[in-house]
Amino acid sequence: MTSPVVTPDTVLAPRRVERLVAGQPTSDGAGVKLTRVLTQPLQRRLDPFLMLDAFGSDNPGDYIAGFPDHPHRGFETVTYMIAGRMRHRDSAGHEGLLTNGGVQWMTAGRGVIHSELPEQEEGRMEGFQLWLNLAGKDKMRPAWYRDIPSGQIPEFTHDGVTVRVIAGASHGVAGAMQRDTTEPLYLDLHLAPGARFEQPLPVQANAFVYVYRGALAIGDTPVPVQRMAILANTAGSDGVVLQAGDMPTRALLIAGRPLNEPIAQYGPFVMNTRDELMQAVEDYQNGTLA
Ligand code: FE2
Repeated sequence: MTSPVVTPDTVLAPRRVERLVAGQPTSDGAGVKLTRVLTQPLQRRLDPFLMLDAFGSDNPGDYIAGFPDHPHRGFETVTYMIAGRMRHRDSAGHEGLLTNGGVQWMTAGRGVIHSELPEQEEGRMEGFQLWLNLAGKDKMRPAWYRDIPSGQIPEFTHDGVTVRVIAGASHGVAGAMQRDTTEPLYLDLHLAPGARFEQPLPVQANAFVYVYRGALAIGDTPVPVQRMAILANTAGSDGVVLQAGDMPTRALLIAGRPLNEPIAQYGPFVMNTRDELMQAVEDYQNGTLA
């Protein structure tokens, strides 16, 4: 990317931290060890986000089995690779290799069956998978998929902070992805020691910060590494201000407009009603999901 024009975004009434959350160690797929940061009980609070998994290990035993063929319906998955190589193949004939700094954005829509398998037998594998809900009107859309290599993610540096704009916009820089309805903001922030970052957020947007290196403070609340800070939707607030501690710090800042619809989940299917879930299971069993 060439250097984009950066416009200052000022926050006058920053949000405070409502709650800090430590993820739950779990395993998924064929036995991949990961930390579920955004768990099912937080889906209503963090609507439109359904899940955030963090994976990071130098031990191939923790990741080598990957995620063999499995279905999805009713939402989007956003996989962000910090380190490592992961091969994706799906029922729509898409195939891609996700590598360091790259993003894969997949709209499962009415259905997709895919595999996500490591293409490395040693070394570090680190990244995140976020699940973003679809509105009821969009859940049965055709499946869609885009690989975004690292070099295509808009990035800028301002006052000691490098900002990778995966979705939405920051300081006048449009991200790699835009979505109507949920209007997601997805930033990966690399802060030098002591650096400060301001980001306006609409008050109704649900928002959280996940620190994956170093530590930062939001107002007077310290946010240590591997913690998610849920940001309060205080009336009159206009954004968030992050202040890095004395170490280089990296964090994800994620926000979106809530759908305010019923959420019905059965494993990899997320619909509005129980009947729709039963239909998804039936379609999968009949081979008509994807
Ligand atoms: Fe998947």
